[in-house]
Order: sequence, then structure tokens, then C-alpha cells
Amino acid sequence: MFVLPKNPSAELWDGPRTGIDGVKELFGADEAYENTRFQSYFKKVLKNVKHIFMDDPSSMPTLIKSSETKALIETGLKLQTILPLSKIIQELRMVKSDDEVEIMKKSGMISSKAFIEAMKWTSPGKTESQLWAKFDYENRLHGASILAYVPVVAGGPNALSMHYVRNDMELKDGDLVLVDCGGEYNGYASDITRTWPVNGKFTEPQKELYQAVLNVNKACIKLCTERNNISLHGIHAQSVKLLKHELQAIGFEVSAWDLERILYPHHVGHYLGLDVHDLHDLDRSRKLKKNMVITIEPGIYVPFDNKFPEKYQGIGIRIEDNVVIGKDEPYVLTSTSPKEIVDIEFCCSNNN
Ligand code: GLY
Ligand code: MN
Ligand code: MN
Repeated sequence: MFVLPKNPSAELWDGPRTGIDGVKELFGADEAYENTRFQSYFKKVLKNVKHIFMDDPSSMPTLIKSSETKALIETGLKLQTILPLSKIIQELRMVKSDDEVEIMKKSGMISSKAFIEAMKWTSPGKTESQLWAKFDYENRLHGASILAYVPVVAGGPNALSMHYVRNDMELKDGDLVLVDCGGEYNGYASDITRTWPVNGKFTEPQKELYQAVLNVNKACIKLCTERNNISLHGIHAQSVKLLKHELQAIGFEVSAWDLERILYPHHVGHYLGLDVHDLHDLDRSRKLKKNMVITIEPGIYVPFDNKFPEKYQGIGIRIEDNVVIGKDEPYVLTSTSPKEIVDIEFCCSNNN
């Protein structure tokens, strides 16, 4: 590792540096040097190595962007093989160690607690922006270092826009609010979505549609085991089938096009870990193995279009959990975030 050297006068202004001995001790580096020695070190190793693992050299830190180093890489690379690094790292990140799972449990618990507090706190007249601030506060208060991504805090029909992040409108009596928000703990992200009534009580149509999505969420979570020999794409296909049945049972006539392009236009989930959308170069057809971590997030977004039952128009619902794949049983990292209708209504009734 090449790091900034200790320097008491610089540290007086900018805070402590880990330093050379520190990175050996804290990060387990076999060798560590001052960053200024990088060029000469690189020159030396380039002569003796067969392969270099690196992603786009132009994205390398400024340290090695000097023209001398660029020339070195260019001449050197004629002799060597350059191999991509990112995919190899992503493979290593796919199956979590037990220690990583423990950190992700804590991450899930912190974010779930924020959902409980936010549900209790919601009432008509408050704004999406205030609710966002509440999430930020609750996450940091309980140990998250930061929110893992810009959340979606969408009251009423704002939930129909998948990437609604303006989060600046008033929450209205009679509407639902959809919140997609997770904190980051020790570098590991949570990615939770819950949808609840602004005034604390679901209307009948909201309840029916919510229960439909919840049934799909729970059925998909059950599939999250190694024994099921299934991939994320496989679970997605199941989620589409299940949602179709649920919607038909409450009076929708849905074509495959409407279902997969309008009502439920996104995937059921993705890999989760150090990033929210983790392992982005690895496709979702991998068979799920013990200690992989994924999201399960079916949703329904009913536009104002009379081909859909009027009572459901303008309602957007998503229920997203984070799941560790087990051999025979899934482990839900976000199980303490309320999602049953009775639990949500109970939580909302404890308004503070
Ligand atoms: N929060 C982004 C996602 O659910 O995929
Ligand atoms: Mn999400
Ligand atoms: Mn997600």
C-alpha cells in the first residue's frame, strides 16, 4: 500500500493520518511505502511481472497519471498482459463471510429501526423533505455513517415515478407514502422500501393492493435458499406470475405487456453489499448460494388510466427486504421493519 506519510504539521490541520506502520497494522498490508515512492516501485515491478490487474488506466489515481508513468504503462503493457480487476473483486464480494453477514444484520436493524420511528412520526401536513430528514437523523443516531443512497420519499402518486427523489411535497391525508431508504453501516448498505398510510389507516383499496404486493414479497423471500437452486432472474419470473394472479383476484385484467412494462416495470431484486446495486458486472442468472445477499422488492404502480380499476389508480406500493440466502432457510435482515398491515397500523397509531 502506498499512503501519505505521517506529518505532524499537516495532521495538525487535517487530522491524523494512518501512516505506513498504521496500514500494515490496521489493514494487514504486507508492504507499505510512502506514496512518493510509487513511481520508482512501479517501474521496478513492471520489469518482472507477467500480468497486471487494473481497470481503465485513465481512471487510476492522479499519482500515476504523470506523463512519465503513463509512458511506463504504455511501453510496459506491450510486454505484459493487462487483465481487468473489477470483475475479480466482484466475484470475491458475491458470497459474504459470516463476519460480513453480522455487519449486514446490524445495518438492517439500524435501518429498520429508522422505519419504525418514521412510521410513528408520519402525519398529514408534514413534508417528504421532513420525513427524509427524519430518516437521516434516525439512521445516524443509531450508528449508520450515512444514508446509502438518495432516498425516495414519495407521497401519493409521486410513488408512480420509480426514481422520484425530489422529496419536496406535502404528505396528504388519505394518501400512502412510499419510502425507499437505507443506511450504511461499516461500509455495508441496507436497501429497504416500505409503504404506509400518511394518516395511519389504510383505505380498503389501499389494503387490497398492499396485501397483493405483500403476498408476492413473502412468497419470493421463501424462494431464497440454496436448496431451491434458483437465480434472481428465476425469482423475478416467479414474482411476475404471482403478481398477475394477485391482481386478477382483485379485478385487474392484465396483459403481460401492461404487467411488466407499466404496473411492475422493474426487477424483483439485485445483489446487495458494499454497494446498494452490488456486483453490477455479474448477471442475475447465477444460482443463489448460501451467504449471498439480495433484495426482494416487488411493487405495483397503477397509473391514471381507465384500463385499470379506478379505485387503485394513483397508488404506488413497493415492499423491499434484504435477504441472506441460507441452505434451507432465508434470513431476512430487515424483518424488524413492519410490513404486515396490522403491524404498520399499530406502529402508525403510536404517533409522536
Ligand atoms: N434503492 C434502490 C433500489 O431499490 O434498487
Ligand atoms: Mn431500494
Ligand atoms: Mn433495491
